[in-house]
Amino acid sequence: MTNQESDSEDRVPDLTHVSLLWALPDHAEAISRLHSAAFDDGWAAPAVARLLANPGSVAMVAAAGVPPSIGAFVLAQVAADEAEILSIAVDPAWQRHGVAARLVEAVKRGAVRSGARALFLEVADGNAAAISLYRVSGFTETGRRKGYYAHPDGTREDAVTMRCALQPDGSPAAS
Ligand SMILES: CC(C)(COP(=O)(O)OP(=O)(O)OC[C@H]1O[C@@H](n2cnc3c(N)ncnc32)[C@H](O)[C@@H]1OP(=O)(O)O)[C@@H](O)C(=O)NCCC(=O)NCCS
Repeated sequence: MTNQESDSEDRVPDLTHVSLLWALPDHAEAISRLHSAAFDDGWAAPAVARLLANPGSVAMVAAAGVPPSIGAFVLAQVAADEAEILSIAVDPAWQRHGVAARLVEAVKRGAVRSGARALFLEVADGNAAAISLYRVSGFTETGRRKGYYAHPDGTREDAVTMRCALQPDGSPAAS
């Protein structure tokens, strides 16, 4: 579930030059801001910092502009040979520039380097943008969790579970 209201900064940097960086503890505030703008259950910066500090954490941010501003993040967690995307969000003013697709490819490579052979996630059934992103990124649907997400208005929404097999180079496996 998302809040698409813009939390954008007034000036949007040149998005033809977006760098992907490993997320550092200093990025926790920016990640928290982006997460809270995108989701009803926003994560506070200390909670983000704890996630970043977890063993097996694979997290990246996207930066652009001078001085650089952070406009997107992806957070994943590797455990043994499996990884999960915990969250991904792109500032509304940065969307539809291929930033999320690049972050997903980068997190796949990071997960492989940490020993993962498959990447999992769950996404709200009505989140067409995210489901489309994951499909073009090589994920396929594996199941559904009925009424998994609770909305502030009391309604519930199914979660779709998705999986992407990973090759050693981080690309989707053939099967
Ligand atoms: C989903 C989200 C991360 C996509 O970020 P993005 O940087 O705009 O995505 P990209 O530009 O990399 O798009 C890659 C592909 O995803 C799909 N896609 C992205 N946004 C889409 C939209 N609004 N509608 C339909 N398809 C969309 C398209 O297939 C797109 O490829 P194309 O641009 O060549 O058509 C972004 O909309 C977002 O932050 N949403 C709020 C948070 C959220 O829902 N996170 C996912 C939770 S599971």
